[in-house]
Amino acid sequence: MRGRVFASALGLAGAIVCFGPIFAAGAPQGATHGKELFERRCGGCHSMDRDKTGPRLKNVYGRAAASVSTFNYSDVLKTAHITWNAKLLDLGLTEPDELVPENDMAFRVPR
Ligand code: HEC
Repeated sequence: MRGRVFASALGLAGAIVCFGPIFAAGAPQGATHGKELFERRCGGCHSMDRDKTGPRLKNVYGRAAASVSTFNYSDVLKTAHITWNAKLLDLGLTEPDELVPENDMAFRVPR
């Protein structure tokens, strides 16, 4: 299972920049591709408008980490005091344990 997730996530390594546009609502460039990738890679745990295994991600770009009041975040993320920008999202998704050790997101995008 882990191997399969790893293999399917490999295609994403160079594509992480595509996520910027979907988080910055309405930007047309690369949005379609990013949306499709998002639904395939992240959609199992995240939705834009409701909490699932992970918190809702609408407007996450520029938002303080762990700020969806209805979602039960890990303590480490709640106390991380970071605001999501392109650089931190990139690091947070490729090296989640480096950015916020012991966080609850059991997923990473290999570089
Ligand atoms: C296996 C389930 C899972 C997958 C797959 C997953 N996430 Fe998450 N995500 C989580 C969980 C759980 C959290 C909350 C982490 C915590 O509380 O420490 C989270 C948190 C986040 C956050 C921080 C949100 C906030 O409000 O601070 C971002 C950003 C994020 N995920 C983006 C993504 C993206 C983009 C993808 C796809 C590349 C993805 N996630 C795939 C489960 C997942």
